[in-house]
Order: sequence, then structure tokens, then C-alpha cells
Amino acid sequence: MATAQSHAQWSSRMGFVLAATGSAVGLGNIWKFPYMVGQSGGAAFVLVYLACIALIGVPILVSEWLLGRRGQKNPINTMAQIAHQHGHHRSWALVGAIGVLGAFLILSFYSVIGGWALAYMRDAIFGSFSGLDKTAIGTAFETFLAQPGELLAWHSLFMLLTIGVVAMGVAGGLERGSKLMMPALGLILIVLVGYGATTGGFGDAAAYLFNPDWTKLDGKVLLAALGHAFFTLSLGMGVMMAYGSYLGEDVNLLRAARTVVIMDTTFALCAGMAIFPIVFANGLDPAAGPGLVFVTLPLAFGNITGGLLLGSLFFLLLTFAALTSSISLLEPVVELLEERTPLNRIGATVVAGLTIWALGIAALLSFNLWSEVKFAGLNVFDLLDYVTSKFMLPLAGLGAIVFVAWKLKQDDVQRELQLGSGGFALWTLLARYVAPIGVLFVFWNNL
Ligand code: TRP
Repeated sequence: MATAQSHAQWSSRMGFVLAATGSAVGLGNIWKFPYMVGQSGGAAFVLVYLACIALIGVPILVSEWLLGRRGQKNPINTMAQIAHQHGHHRSWALVGAIGVLGAFLILSFYSVIGGWALAYMRDAIFGSFSGLDKTAIGTAFETFLAQPGELLAWHSLFMLLTIGVVAMGVAGGLERGSKLMMPALGLILIVLVGYGATTGGFGDAAAYLFNPDWTKLDGKVLLAALGHAFFTLSLGMGVMMAYGSYLGEDVNLLRAARTVVIMDTTFALCAGMAIFPIVFANGLDPAAGPGLVFVTLPLAFGNITGGLLLGSLFFLLLTFAALTSSISLLEPVVELLEERTPLNRIGATVVAGLTIWALGIAALLSFNLWSEVKFAGLNVFDLLDYVTSKFMLPLAGLGAIVFVAWKLKQDDVQRELQLGSGGFALWTLLARYVAPIGVLFVFWNNL
């Protein structure tokens, strides 16, 4: 049974593209991107991030799908098997192993933020933001973070939802969920950008996001931009490899990648153009950190007509965007357990989910009881984010693309990508040189 299920397939091309978009578009776009822009000082970060997406992200995304589709297994076995078939060392399986471990680590803190989105949905529905000023909204957020019990309850609920969807399987769970909610979230975001245009901070926000001050660019910012390009496209963690393993031969990978990347980037930039006008119009601190979205948008919701409805919908859809990503993070872990242990799909989902949930508790305590527990100056939450985004994601992604570009028969790759000779030459340039060297350069810069 287990094998039959893990060789499941997406029900359609469209279903796959939506699920992959659902994985890519998530808290990374709406919660993480704006606060990283703020912490990194604005447009220089944004432009480097966009370059990383185009030159490094796209080729790696395509490589991961290609590997997954050929292997049809969990990321570790996929890598081991393809390496073996091509006469390469089995240690390439390490790329898959870093991936599964990383997905496990990311989901633990991702679910905590997913819980914040749920909690804010409740607040929005009860009209808790109405009439509040920026100080009151900031205080409410701090009070919320100071209560471990609250955070735990919402983190648990979010994890429960994730487990529920993943247990339902590939087409039924992962795919169906993405179809309706993603377009709705896009619409609300556009409305919020419209609100941003009325605040008086719109011009400042646009300049902040797109007019670079290159003196702000240093090794740290480069690494942050690279790491976030991986995070936002769900790269390096076996997620896209796992999604590729459910993929049929007929799908054109480059075209699918184009759709996913355009959608993902649009969501991130729209989130920026919704949030920063509010930041500048109200004199808030752009470098406020992970709370940025939670202390800016409620200001808008509390002060505009229809804010109650808009706010409730926004946090509902944010939760949904988070869920379509969190399910993708659980998937490679579940796929591995399903194929390598006697557990069936539901058992594997529950075991993986509960373990991740437990690690998430350490992450959420970083905001209160354990705020002083630090490793190398980082609390547990920041440490999980740092190690995964800045090291594991880029390294595993690097492994995937080096393998595809240097270790596979290139004629087959060209046929699989359906490229003519010109297109394939460009692909080769990016996949063999630009992307790997880019990743290595950024690492080297940081040492
Ligand atoms: N890309 C998602 C976001 O932006 C998060 C995510 C889902 C992810 N799957 C991933 C990040 C795999 C890294 C690796 O919210």
C-alpha cells in the first residue's frame, strides 16, 4: 500500500503548478520578505534578491523537479538511485538527507508563525484592532508573544491542520486546498496595496523598495538575499524534489517554473507595497523584525472602512498561504517515513508531525521563557532560521544543481527540458557556472 501511495500523481498539470505555487507563496512572502527588507536596509537587498531568484533560483527549481521526477521517491532515495544509475557515488544521497532534515527544522518554527496568523485571524474577526493606534497595536503584539500558553495553543492548532491536510494525500489534500485560496489572497493583497496608496507613505515605500543605496550592500545582505531566494521558492529542502516525484512526463518544467516564480515574486513585492507605506506613513521602524507584518497591517485594518472584513479575510488567507507551504514542508519527511518504515501514510504523517510540533515548542519559548537561552548569540527560533536559510538550503540546492549540470547525461537533460540548442546553451551557462559560482561566492564572502 505504502509504495502505491507514494507513487501517487498530481491529477493535472494545473494542479501541480498550483500546489508548487502554494508551496512557494507563504509566510516567506508576506511575513518574512518585508521584515528582511527592513532589516537589510531596503532596495539593495531587493535587487540582489531578484537577481538570485532569476539566475540561481530558477535553475535550481527546475533541477530539483527534474531529479524528483526521475527518481519518483523520497529525496534521499531519489538522489541515491539516480547517482547509482549514472555510476556516481551514493553519497549524493546526502543532498536529499540535508533536504529532509532541513524541511523538518523549518517546519518547526514555520508552524509557530502560522499560529500567529491564526491568532490574528481571531483578533480580526472580533474587531480587536478597531481604533487602536500604533503603540496599542505594538503592545498587543508584545503581550501576545509573552504568553507561552497562547503561542502553544495556536502552534498546536496550526500543526494539527497541517497534519490533517497531508494525511489526506497528494491530490485530495495538497492540490485541492491550493486552488481557491491563492487567487483570493492575491486579490486582498491588491486591495491593501490600494490602501497603501492612500496613506501618504506610498512614494517613500516605492523608493525604499526599488531605489538602491548600494553602500548598504555587504556580505551579510548578500547571504540574506540568497538565503531568502531559496526560502521563498521552497528550494534545497527536498520539497520541490518530492513534488517532482509526483509529476508526469508531460509537464514542461521551465514553463511551470516561470509561472511559479512570477507568482511568488509578485506576492512578495505586493506584500512590500502593502506594508511599507503604512510603516512610513506612521513613523514605524522598518527594521522591527519578525513582528513587522503583525504591527503594521492591523493599523490599516483598525482604521479603514470595511477593515473588519478585510482584516479577517487577510489573516484567514495568510493562514491558508502558510498551510499550503507547511504541508509541502511536511511532505518530504512523510514520504521518507512512508517508504523506509512500516508506517502507512497516516501513521507517517502523525509521527513526523508530532515530532516537529515538539521541536516547535522550543522555538516558541524563544519569545518568552527562553528568550535568554542563546547559542552563538541566537535564540532557538533565530538559530533554526539561520542554520536552515543561510546554510542548509543553499548547500542542498547547490548539490542538486551541480548534480544535474555536471553529473547527468546532458543530451537527456536537454530533451527533458525541451530546449533548442540556443536555449540549452543559456541553461548550461546558468546551471553549470552562474548558479553554483553565485552560491559559492556568497558563502566565500561571508567567511
Ligand atoms: N516557500 C515557503 C514560503 O515562502 C516556505 C517553504 C515551503 C519552504 N517549503 C519550503 C522554505 C522548503 C524552504 C524550503 O513561505
